Amino acid sequence: MNALAARRRHPAAIALLLMLALVVTGGLYAALAPKPASAAAVTADQVEEGQALFRANCASCHGLNAEGNELPINDTKNAFGPSLVGAGAAAVHFQMETGRMPMAAPGPQAPRVDKVKFTPEQIDAIAAYVASLGPGPARPDEEWLDWEGQGNAGRGGTIYRSNCAMCHSSAAAGGALTRGKHAPPLDGVEPVHIYEAMLTGPQNMPVFNDQNLTPEDKRDVIAYVKEMHAVGSPGGIGLGGYGPASEGMFIWLFGLGIMIGTAVWLGQKGA
Ligand code: HEC
Ligand code: HEC
Repeated sequence: MNALAARRRHPAAIALLLMLALVVTGGLYAALAPKPASAAAVTADQVEEGQALFRANCASCHGLNAEGNELPINDTKNAFGPSLVGAGAAAVHFQMETGRMPMAAPGPQAPRVDKVKFTPEQIDAIAAYVASLGPGPARPDEEWLDWEGQGNAGRGGTIYRSNCAMCHSSAAAGGALTRGKHAPPLDGVEPVHIYEAMLTGPQNMPVFNDQNLTPEDKRDVIAYVKEMHAVGSPGGIGLGGYGPASEGMFIWLFGLGIMIGTAVWLGQKGA
């Protein structure tokens, strides 16, 4: 019997072999398994940085721990802000990248501001911090923003007309709501912000979660909104984009007006 064979029969050999196999499979799995994109992207440092940024820029309205300030009465230091526990990374990203937050002054509606004062890294850090406080909607995967490649604008139009047009108008030109609020025009809004607005329902807008409108539905709506604005007004001036009513009115008033005017003028010349 040679030395190797003797060792093979050693009672610990099987256990050792099993251990080795486990270590190899475990190592291979860790190296090759797909990582969840959002979880891998967030680090403890990022959450900590986000918390510091939050305390400096948002806590005066949303509370030191984002618990919200619901009772601003007799409170001179703080202003109203809703609780952000469960608001999710998508809401923070939408609100900050569209410049709505941090809100500059209390008012009926945080206005869209095109000059954003925070870097994408800072916004990601605050989003990571808010997401760490409670489960909320995460930012959408790239796949659902690819409206040019995979969106169906025709289908999106049907969804848009029954879910969005009553507030944003059929031509997405926006519209007034009650109490000094308004639904903004959607021209020029980034696809990711259209998605996140549907997902988080800012302010008076309803939330369209994935049960109401699937990610495919949302992508189709983005395709519709984007293509509508890309097409523009092939017939000339858009007349405010208010749809058939304003266009019909225009033809009745101006078209008929010109014809009647011409008829009267011709009649006078003939007399
Ligand atoms: C001057 C007060 C004020 C400041 C400062 C402020 N907010 Fe707000 N925030 C509000 C108010 C009021 C609302 C709700 C009304 C609205 O959305 O128009 C709101 C809404 C939000 C929402 C939407 C919540 C939801 O459920 O969808 C998010 C997210 C948010 N704020 C994040 C932030 C972040 C992040 C900061 C700091 C960078 C910040 N806010 C700073 C007052 C403020
Ligand atoms: C009940 C009225 C209402 C409905 C229905 C509604 N919205 Fe909105 N929407 C609003 C209001 C109000 C705001 C402004 C929120 C704010 O300023 O905080 C808004 C904001 C938005 C924005 C952000 C635009 C910007 O300037 O950053 C987008 C995008 C949007 N809505 C898309 C949609 C889509 C798509 C639908 C349909 C799936 C829809 N909305 C349905 C009221 C509505």
